Amino acid sequence: MVEDSKLSGFFKLSRDERVKKLMEVTGLGEEDLEPLINPGKVDLDILDHMIENVVGAMTLPLGIATNFKVNGKDYLIPMALEEPSVVAAASNAARMARELGGFTATDTGPIMIAQIQVVEVPTPHAAKNRIMENKEELLKFANEQDPILVRFGGGARDLRVRIIESSVGEMLVTELIVDTRDAMGANAVNTMAEALAPRIEKLTGGRVILRILSNLAEFRLVRVRATFDKELLGGEEVVRDIITAWAFAEADPYRCATHNKGIMNGIDAVVIATGNDFRAIEAGAHSYASVGGYSSLTKYERDIDGNLVGSIEIPMAVGLVGGATKVHPVARACVKILGVKTALELGHIIASVGLAQNLAALRALASEGIQKGHMALHARNVAATAGARGDQIDVIAERLVMEKNVKVERAKELLDEITN
Ligand code: MEV
Repeated sequence: MVEDSKLSGFFKLSRDERVKKLMEVTGLGEEDLEPLINPGKVDLDILDHMIENVVGAMTLPLGIATNFKVNGKDYLIPMALEEPSVVAAASNAARMARELGGFTATDTGPIMIAQIQVVEVPTPHAAKNRIMENKEELLKFANEQDPILVRFGGGARDLRVRIIESSVGEMLVTELIVDTRDAMGANAVNTMAEALAPRIEKLTGGRVILRILSNLAEFRLVRVRATFDKELLGGEEVVRDIITAWAFAEADPYRCATHNKGIMNGIDAVVIATGNDFRAIEAGAHSYASVGGYSSLTKYERDIDGNLVGSIEIPMAVGLVGGATKVHPVARACVKILGVKTALELGHIIASVGLAQNLAALRALASEGIQKGHMALHARNVAATAGARGDQIDVIAERLVMEKNVKVERAKELLDEITN
């Protein structure tokens, strides 16, 4: 958390100046930010133990999204991704939301589901009842598998049993509902599910095959809403067209896939920066969007003042303890920049970025299209690559776009003109 995430003109600074500014506003020192300032210096021995057959590392650009206010607190948001415009778009949308209070986020708690698949059950309905009769004992046994989680206030909370039809016959699915606190929780719930399996076999008379978490984390939702100022958006017609663009996604899966992809542009970038499992988040998001027919993760309405009100509801299985978040030096630095204390707080921020990203995309698509902004940013990068600094970047970028010649060689010529 920072006092003020606006950092106006941040994008105009050189990279070194941005780092200095970041240190100034977060109070972090060079040693805290070293892994992301000098990613080449990250100890490969650390990475070597994260996966198998390691030969090197893949680095992504890491940018900082500005202007975010979530539940009244300002945050600077690290985003790791390869796609231009995303960080700028998120920052721009957050600017339009902060005028009217920023993002308001709530959650349903850090609750994961683990599934135990049982086949060849002679009397599935009676077996279901037998499991529920033994619920307390089963939950107690599950909790004995993870005393640390229980000590931190988490643990197995509930059980549910479903009988499902499949192409190979009926199956009994026992689902363990676990509060995983600040962990993403995959290890905790998988361990519990594996430990419970023999007891479930005994109670049901069937045979257990799979014991694994579900990424459709429907009990681990984050809900965010924000009001975007109509004037900053570009007026009432833009508000109308954004709502119509969103309605297109609601009505058509071909459009909706791209619409939700735009949401995930922002979400994945923060998930990756903080060392979380972006495949789990992707799986959760798209499967949740498919419940009842594939649809938009966001919704848009107009309030009585004509402002645009956006909301998002999305599973958010992210953690702060364990996994790459604790091991990877860049992820640790990113968590420090965010200043978050709990996984739920991190989830609130990530879902807010998703909403901001979606609003920015819809606004661009419903007005000038995305290519103009894209080219303007690209031109800035080209100007910077050619050696332009500070105000020179804007002047040269504007000329490049005007001349429809966004090339480093031309940027160098223009820089020569300016400096001589
Ligand atoms: C591009 O990465 C994302 C967008 O296509 C999202 C959208 O169409 O809503 C711009």
